[in-house]
Amino acid sequence: MFPSHMSVNDLGVFAVVMVFGLLIVLLFMFDFVSMTTFLANRGTSKGPSIPGEEPSDPEMGNLGDMGKAGSLHQYMMLLHEKYGPIAGFWWAKQYVVSLAAPEYWKEIKSIFDRPGDLFRLFEPLIGKKSIQYANGPDGRKRRQLMDRSFSHEAVKDYYDHFVKIAKETADKFAKGGSQEHIPLGKSMIAMAIKAISVAGMGRSFMDEKEVDKLAAVYDVCWEEMEERLTSPPPGPDSDREKNFQKARAEMQKLVRDLIRKRRQDTEKAEKLFIDSMLDNDFMDEEEICDHVITFLIGGFHTTGNMMIWCLYFLTKHPEIQEKVFAELEEVLGQEDIKPQVVTELTYTRQVIDETLRASVLAPWGARVHEYDLQVGEFVIPKETPILLPFGVVLQDQNLWPEPKRFDPDRFSSENIKQLPSLAYQPFGFAGKRKCPGWRFSIAEGLVFLSVLIRRFKFHLVEGQEVKPVYRLVTSPAEEVWVTVTER
Ligand code: HEM
Repeated sequence: MFPSHMSVNDLGVFAVVMVFGLLIVLLFMFDFVSMTTFLANRGTSKGPSIPGEEPSDPEMGNLGDMGKAGSLHQYMMLLHEKYGPIAGFWWAKQYVVSLAAPEYWKEIKSIFDRPGDLFRLFEPLIGKKSIQYANGPDGRKRRQLMDRSFSHEAVKDYYDHFVKIAKETADKFAKGGSQEHIPLGKSMIAMAIKAISVAGMGRSFMDEKEVDKLAAVYDVCWEEMEERLTSPPPGPDSDREKNFQKARAEMQKLVRDLIRKRRQDTEKAEKLFIDSMLDNDFMDEEEICDHVITFLIGGFHTTGNMMIWCLYFLTKHPEIQEKVFAELEEVLGQEDIKPQVVTELTYTRQVIDETLRASVLAPWGARVHEYDLQVGEFVIPKETPILLPFGVVLQDQNLWPEPKRFDPDRFSSENIKQLPSLAYQPFGFAGKRKCPGWRFSIAEGLVFLSVLIRRFKFHLVEGQEVKPVYRLVTSPAEEVWVTVTER
């Protein structure tokens, strides 16, 4: 095995060189292996590497792929189909991990903090001091204050206001007669603006003209914000940017006027959300304004679209519409809905729950943690944004067979027991930072349905193809036109 001309001395030197060489190779291999493990795990050597995509572009990461998929929600659907319930991808230069399984959600359910960067593009509209960006003890303190105005008890006081708003709209529908084509989107957004205004802001947007103005400037602002989620921002001198800045300035003015008016109102009959903002000693004027805009927008864009989808689904399923009508008649008779009877409206509530699931109304949220996080067998490195694709789980066929089908019976007490905990989280769940408006939204939905469905049958105007656009909130791509016939 050795060359025959070698002496014992030569053999000794040869052996030392071999051992030394082997050591270097081993050390190099060890270094290489640990480096690749580090890269694969993005910063931690614990646990197997998280499956997922490499960046398609060094600057844009996978944002271009999101654009191609149509939206972040659609991209997440594809990503999780390919890689399973945990998957990584690149939000520009930021590595992000997405978790799409109730079992994994359990492991992060106490995390409060949100990665501001993922929502930064909404900052020009809602402001940098918005609750959306508040983390740590400061964030929790603010949430506790805000949650009081939307507690179970507080929401009970809003029922009569909601009934009045719905009846006014119903009267308008009735006036138009059964041939009139009603713009469902515009009507529902207007009702939702009035609802958050009267319940949270002191009736500022109750007049039709004010409602229209707010809805119009808001539309321009929101379109632009959503556009920036999947494409580069417009140039500073472009028309797009100028339109946005103009609409944004008007929105700011509307909200500042609202705050000024409420401050001057010395005969307030009730204490509303806006008062809790004005009456504390730890928020400056800019912060108050940012929170008010956030709640105003959060309060109507979501519930307005919830109502659009709900009535749309009911037009597609007349038999379900009739079942809702029958329940409302049986429980309420000729009376207005009151908070005391809502637990009896089980089927109507199932319809709202199924609307939130089938429409994927708010498709995603996010969290971040200052320490490494063990999730199943994986470790998510500290400070990595964790995406929560609520919409992917709401459309998971293992949890919801035939997920595209609208079927309120999925939420019958029998069926709901079969689901794992955290399977149904349309309002988020983590760190006591679930949507502060969730009870408000359900109450609004029940009241609006109780008025509208008892008075009319809703029909979809023929020849429309209603397509969803999945963004921070899912809305129909175009106006949805309906007709009504009085019962
Ligand atoms: C059907 C209607 C609604 C849906 C589906 C919805 C959904 C959500 C979701 C998924 C989140 C993120 C939660 C998380 O990060 O864990 C959220 C946050 C939020 N929602 Fe809603 N929401 C709705 C209605 C409302 C209403 C009526 C209001 C106002 C009264 C509101 C105000 C907010 C605010 C301010 C936040 C941010 C809270 C924070 O940063 O702590 N939402 N919502």
